[in-house]
Amino acid sequence: MSKQFQLAIGLDGIAVAESDLSLVDGLNGLLVYRGYWARDLAIHHTFEEVAHLLWYGHLPNEQELSALKNQLKQHRDLPEHVKGMLRLIPADVDMMSVLRTGVSALGNDSYGWPPTLEQVISVTAKMPTIVAFRYACLQGREPLDPHPELDHTANYLYMLKGTEPSHAHVRALDAYLILTQEHGMNASTFSGRVVTSTESDLISAITGAIGTLKGPLHGGAPSEVTEMIEAIGTKENAEPWLRNKLENGERLMGFGHRVYKTIDPRATALRVVAEQLSGDDPWFDLATHVEQVGLKLLAEYKPGRKLNTNVEFFAAAVMRAVGLEDDLFTPSFAVSRVVGWSAHILEQAGSNRIIRPQLNYTGKMPE
Ligand SMILES: CC(C)(COP(=O)(O)OP(=O)(O)OC[C@H]1O[C@@H](n2cnc3c(N)ncnc32)[C@H](O)[C@@H]1OP(=O)(O)O)[C@@H](O)C(=O)NCCC(=O)NCCS
Repeated sequence: MSKQFQLAIGLDGIAVAESDLSLVDGLNGLLVYRGYWARDLAIHHTFEEVAHLLWYGHLPNEQELSALKNQLKQHRDLPEHVKGMLRLIPADVDMMSVLRTGVSALGNDSYGWPPTLEQVISVTAKMPTIVAFRYACLQGREPLDPHPELDHTANYLYMLKGTEPSHAHVRALDAYLILTQEHGMNASTFSGRVVTSTESDLISAITGAIGTLKGPLHGGAPSEVTEMIEAIGTKENAEPWLRNKLENGERLMGFGHRVYKTIDPRATALRVVAEQLSGDDPWFDLATHVEQVGLKLLAEYKPGRKLNTNVEFFAAAVMRAVGLEDDLFTPSFAVSRVVGWSAHILEQAGSNRIIRPQLNYTGKMPE
């Protein structure tokens, strides 16, 4: 009998790296980015400031912030071959696949090993442009050039919607993008680290991470949350609808998390942001009712599993309130998470060892 290795299906409870980037404490519901509470960063800081914290290790002073904003602005434009290719992709290809392909098409020698901060800033700057370019094409309008005066989040909304966004919408989306920039060794970050650990290039690592985020068990849930709320339709229908799902052994989208066994702190912060924006919006009223009924039924059907509302539930509410359509939810998640992916990729490259687990063979041996 050949050697059998210690088995951890899903790598549950296994650490594969040490990192300075974030603490995700699922038992106590804590999220820390490099010594700061993520919720405080979301309230008091901007996308660029938190990206600086994750990439450079400290919040920027005025000069550093202005330098980073300028660098991001300089790298926003897409190469012509990428624009041409985005125009050719058939309309029925989903936005995450388009983003994955668009990022992949950026790959050339200037993104070679080892990954650098300039490469990282370049990809982060271009991802919103890829999403907005494609979105404009689908709407049958000419894509807008990035706005030279607007910061990262405001420019993203501007390119998507064609008008300069309100301060309230920018702040709300900024809070979402900050709260989702980084989250420990989640599945897509792990993908990025695995690719990087082979000394492959940054573009390959980000492309792998986007493909991983695409799955509904990771990043694909917020649009499914809005679909669920639409399907439920009325408060009276919430309980029978949700009960029916659970009776059929299906999952309720926007609930449960591999790590958080208490309320997801990002959901708590985003609930406040969504409440501020939504006011008396009947959709939001219905969503909070669905949340309460969902929690009650999950406790009934899955006792002891500690299933709570996750980030995607209120992410859906915030993105809907700022006017983003469902098919932009997960791509917007990628637009923020690229910051965390790339911070991990730099960290992995800085002290690299190829990530190469084992498996236990359960097949036949030759006769
Ligand atoms: C996020 C998620 C994949 C985590 O999964 P996980 O850590 O592997 O948890 P498990 O699949 O082991 O689930 C544990 C138990 O809770 C149940 N469960 C987990 N999430 C559930 C949900 N959203 N609805 C109903 N039941 C759920 C499972 O069916 C399982 O029940 P069992 O013990 O009777 O088999 C899972 O909670 C999920 O699918 N949630 C819905 C999708 C979602 O919102 N994703 C976004 C995450 S931010």
